[in-house]
Amino acid sequence: MNLILLGPPGAGKGTQAKRLEEARGIAQISTGDMLRAEVKSGSEIGLRARAIMERGDLVPDEVITAMLAARVSRPDCAKGFILDGFPRTVPQAEALDGMLAEKGLRLDHVIELQVDDAALVERIAGRFTCASCGAGYHDTFKPTAQPGICDNCGGTEFTRRADDKAETVAARLDAYHRQTAPLLPYYAAQGKLSGVDGMAAMDQVAGAIGAILNGKA
Ligand code: AP5
Repeated sequence: MNLILLGPPGAGKGTQAKRLEEARGIAQISTGDMLRAEVKSGSEIGLRARAIMERGDLVPDEVITAMLAARVSRPDCAKGFILDGFPRTVPQAEALDGMLAEKGLRLDHVIELQVDDAALVERIAGRFTCASCGAGYHDTFKPTAQPGICDNCGGTEFTRRADDKAETVAARLDAYHRQTAPLLPYYAAQGKLSGVDGMAAMDQVAGAIGAILNGKA
């Protein structure tokens, strides 16, 4: 099964993609995570992307689509993939359609996580990640069971993203509304778009996505 999770920054795409990956054995592909790995490694792509991401703008389509084409060819995508953060523009969506057609694959579902802009800032500002294993947490909505200790690996170092500052979040939201929201009519016209209330609790959102994927929504 191949699907896209669409939604503004902080809507819960990464949270739900990880759950789906664990539950269904299909690969999560986060272009944001891939870019952050490039930045960390100091690669040419990373050097180019760093300032763009810190401003809250989108990395050029040709950089992203080349990165994505290489990623979907890897063996862990044999059972399918969940795209988290891609496509983000109509040219990226058109490139994806071409890539899938070339491989004889199809897109099964596009799921929009619908969240109010006001809630997103709180979600993003409270987010933090274990520096050792990458497990994601939130100050209010998903704290560690014991303060300062990762539930998953026992790590005690945590990081916050450079683009999670309030002014950058505003730019990211603006980019979403201008460049990514036009994908909603694009996929509605293909008959693939479903909406889920992303303001609900994480388990309820997961249940609503599961119902769509199981054909019960
Ligand atoms: P990317 O990493 O994709 O960031 P994003 O789309 O802004 O999304 P986030 O990761 O911020 O949020 P999310 O929806 O995954 O939410 P999460 O699950 O973490 O992109 C970063 C940058 O890279 C872009 O700005 C751009 O520059 C570049 N880029 C990436 N892809 C690109 C592309 N295709 N083209 C061009 N440029 C690209 O949840 C957020 C928080 O809320 C968490 O703490 C979580 O615990 C909490 N939470 C989640 N769900 C709930 C819930 N239901 N209730 C309460 N809290 C919740």
